Amino acid sequence: MAQDYVASISFDQRLYRQDITGSIAHAKMLAKQGIITESDAETIIKGLSSIQEEIEQGKFQFQTEHEDIHMNIEARLFEKVGDVAGKLHTARSRNDQIALDLRLFVKEELSKTIDALKSLQSSLVELAEANKNIIMPGYTHLQQAQPVLLAHHLLAYFEMFQRDKERFHDCLKRTDILPLGSGALAGVSYPVDREFVARELGFGKVSTNSLDAVSDRDFIIEYEACAAITMVHLSRLAEEIILWSSAEFSFIEIGEAYTTGSSIMPQKKNPDVAELARGKTGRVYGHLMAILTTMEALPLAYNRDMQEDKEGLFDTVDTLQPTLRVFAGMVKTIKVNVKRVRQAIKRDYILATDLADYLVKKGLPFREAHGVLSKLSKYAVSRDKSFHELSLSEYHGFSLLFDEDVYAITLESSLAARNVIGGTSPQQVGAALTRAREILNGTK
Ligand code: ARG
Repeated sequence: MAQDYVASISFDQRLYRQDITGSIAHAKMLAKQGIITESDAETIIKGLSSIQEEIEQGKFQFQTEHEDIHMNIEARLFEKVGDVAGKLHTARSRNDQIALDLRLFVKEELSKTIDALKSLQSSLVELAEANKNIIMPGYTHLQQAQPVLLAHHLLAYFEMFQRDKERFHDCLKRTDILPLGSGALAGVSYPVDREFVARELGFGKVSTNSLDAVSDRDFIIEYEACAAITMVHLSRLAEEIILWSSAEFSFIEIGEAYTTGSSIMPQKKNPDVAELARGKTGRVYGHLMAILTTMEALPLAYNRDMQEDKEGLFDTVDTLQPTLRVFAGMVKTIKVNVKRVRQAIKRDYILATDLADYLVKKGLPFREAHGVLSKLSKYAVSRDKSFHELSLSEYHGFSLLFDEDVYAITLESSLAARNVIGGTSPQQVGAALTRAREILNGTK
């Protein structure tokens, strides 16, 4: 009963490859340093490799009785090679062993996550390029605010995912540190060569405090924090995809494969993939809270509480990466309903800021211009007229600074005017697309 309670083999068997890889490097080092003989090391390494095969062929019997992945593999090694197996755990503890396995695991998952982010970014860039000249209403408070290019809107997500990628790259720096050689907590009393093990396993650095090395799970917290931020971004994109594919918006259509029909309403095409992604955000935040709370106030060094670090990490990886991949696929299938996007711009009230800017350029302080436009907008709405349908004398009722050239203000002129770095002018968006391509091609 208590044995079942403390066992982690049901989930940490996922770390078998990292565990065996780490043990092989350790055995090589022990032999190189003359701590065990070359022939013992060879026997151990052969045994470990055949255990890996057994696991990969589904022939390995994981046993709760052996608690965790480390002891399951060791017990099998004894069966295979006899007492020599007992030499593998020289100058090592399960405490530095699990820290190693987890760091190897997170390192691999970091690069997979970064790749998945890149694929999604490239789908977004493709969609933006295919719809380069489409003008859409830009929103604040979900109210139409100013016109923007659809490509500009999509590239906003490119930027978010770029920052996410940078965060994961940054997390890699702090994960890429070898903890092995820290022993249970105080270091080991054998002449080990930690630098050698680091090179064997591809670690950039060796940890510099044994107590810290066996109790540090910051790299897991950090992966989960980065994942949580990425899920924030995915949930916002999901929400816009859901909104934009509603009948009310009808800005886009998502490929069939990413929607499902309703069991009773035949006209429906539900954006289930986007909804699930939005829903899955919760569990990723939850895992972050859980690991933070597990680690909180733990005394140094290792405590068994830390075994609770794994399931949340695995589920985070298994939620985030598939979400990124399915989004990369879904975004590629998006068809933009050009007409609807354009029609959605209600009259030309969205140009109110541009009309205010027009008055400012004629010498009116901005606050006054804002007041004029606020009255003018109310007037136009009450007459059910667009700005460009108002006569010059109607304009003059609000300010004598209005002239014939006020009619030259259009959606296009509004965009072109925002030719500032990061702005929505076609020129700036073109440059942003080029930059995005350069980033994806690795030239920037
Ligand atoms: N299964 C343990 C974990 O995941 C491995 C380390 C156990 N160390 C110990 N001293 N019991 O944390």
